[in-house]
Amino acid sequence: MRIEVLTLFPEIYRSLDVGIIGKALKKNAFEVNVTNIRDYSLDKHKRCDDYPYGGGPGMLMTPQPLHDAISAVDPDRRCVRIYLSPKGVTLNQNLVRELSSKENIMLINGFYEGIDQRIIDLDVDMELSIGDYVLTGGDLASLVVINAVARYVPDVLGRQESTEEESFSDGMLEYPQYTRPQEFMGLSVPEVLLSGNHAEIAKWRKEQSEKITENKRPDLLK
Ligand code: ADE
Repeated sequence: MRIEVLTLFPEIYRSLDVGIIGKALKKNAFEVNVTNIRDYSLDKHKRCDDYPYGGGPGMLMTPQPLHDAISAVDPDRRCVRIYLSPKGVTLNQNLVRELSSKENIMLINGFYEGIDQRIIDLDVDMELSIGDYVLTGGDLASLVVINAVARYVPDVLGRQESTEEESFSDGMLEYPQYTRPQEFMGLSVPEVLLSGNHAEIAKWRKEQSEKITENKRPDLLK
């Protein structure tokens, strides 16, 4: 998988160099290619923003640098082109899984008050939000998408960090987990987890999963 990122702030993506994602990128399990939209601006000062027609607060990203950057990076329209925006469909684990099956993804990041609508009409396949709140730009949302999607790319997670038994993997929240010591601040690990009885452990975990989901996220059970 190859992820193309178009941004005004390439430095933000340095955080991809660390941890599980950094390790995966180093061994080429997948690729992230970051392009600075400003490099494509034909303005003599490399400007990429302007005032909105009709007035209103803030600035908008102008269409020319964005359109030229998108066309240069993806001339044959191989990428699923995603614009990060609070107006988009909300990301969830099913969508993450679906995106992870794509060979080429482009993450287009707006800044200021957003981008000229004509870029969305001409060049974008889907608008994607990471939740009902507003960020200063799309980049943190893009990092969230990259992180969540990468976990499904083969060879990114070791067996230790599998996607099989975790929250949302079967539409439910994960059961509680415990590690050593057996007793901590007067609280003990549930007896069943020490029993070595795998059938009983599986049953307990399933019940816990159901209980937690019902309490915390009853909407998931619908
Ligand atoms: N840009 C600004 N806010 C956003 C959000 N919630 N999701 C995706 N992109 C955004």
